[in-house]
Amino acid sequence: MATTVFRRGLSRAKQQFSPSNLIISRPYASEAAAQQATPKATKSTTLKTFSIYRWNPDNPSKPELRNYEIDLKECGPMVLDALIKIKNEMDPTLTFRRSCREGICGSCAMNIDGCNGLACLTKIPKSESSSTITPLPHMFVIKDLVVDMTNFYNQYKSIEPWLKRKNPPPNEGKEIPQSKKDRAKLDGMYECILCACCSTSCPSYWWNPESYLGPAALLHAHRWISDSRDEYTKERLDAICDEFKLYRCHTILNCARACPKGLNPGKQITTIKQLQLKNGI
Ligand code: SF4
Ligand code: SF4
Ligand code: FES
Repeated sequence: MATTVFRRGLSRAKQQFSPSNLIISRPYASEAAAQQATPKATKSTTLKTFSIYRWNPDNPSKPELRNYEIDLKECGPMVLDALIKIKNEMDPTLTFRRSCREGICGSCAMNIDGCNGLACLTKIPKSESSSTITPLPHMFVIKDLVVDMTNFYNQYKSIEPWLKRKNPPPNEGKEIPQSKKDRAKLDGMYECILCACCSTSCPSYWWNPESYLGPAALLHAHRWISDSRDEYTKERLDAICDEFKLYRCHTILNCARACPKGLNPGKQITTIKQLQLKNGI
């Protein structure tokens, strides 16, 4: 992974997440866990260590992996439960995003034991005695597990994710009707919650984060291309017909493996390419 490349247009003050920069620190033990902790020979098997990426821009030393040991008997089943427990009971300085805790808002996306996913939908792996939690790969870190999403959101904005019409709607002031068949064409795309798990797992996106739109933005581009009510289909296809914006996708399909909503952005990208050919673009 790149360690020294800074992206144009983004602040150099931010730390880019790179596992090779990490220092491993001594564990933090919660009072509860410490009270329950018994000598090594009889140590409870429900104790688990979470190694969590820590970096504070106000104290710009090297980032580190800090260990926290918690008793799983006193914690909810999900990784987000563990993070909240650590923040509430052991270290209030730990910083991460979360809101809905049910896979809807997309804000708790992070890398858990090497795989991108939502902390609220990922069960704490019980088979291993430790888990490593780091920010989404190849993103600039604002603090701890919080990454800068500016570039990602700008790319989403660039595909103009709204209904565009050339003609006034048939019933002015009312909704534009859509058949069930046409509505079904949006399945597999409208469910995207913009968590960025796919884009930040895509090698092409890692190396071209500003010029390649990435799987999430392209999935949304196809969502609007496929909408029967939109009248800018050809223009939309034309706008992303670009060696970098679209054709950096090499169908590696990491995106489909990473998506916590079970979507397949790689397949949508392939369909966009086929539609461009069909339309002579
Ligand atoms: S299929 Fe395309 S978008 Fe998905 S991971 Fe591969 S290169 Fe990236
Ligand atoms: S396609 Fe899936 S992984 Fe990608 S942003 Fe949408 S929900 Fe997240
Ligand atoms: S907290 Fe909303 S998706 Fe996890």
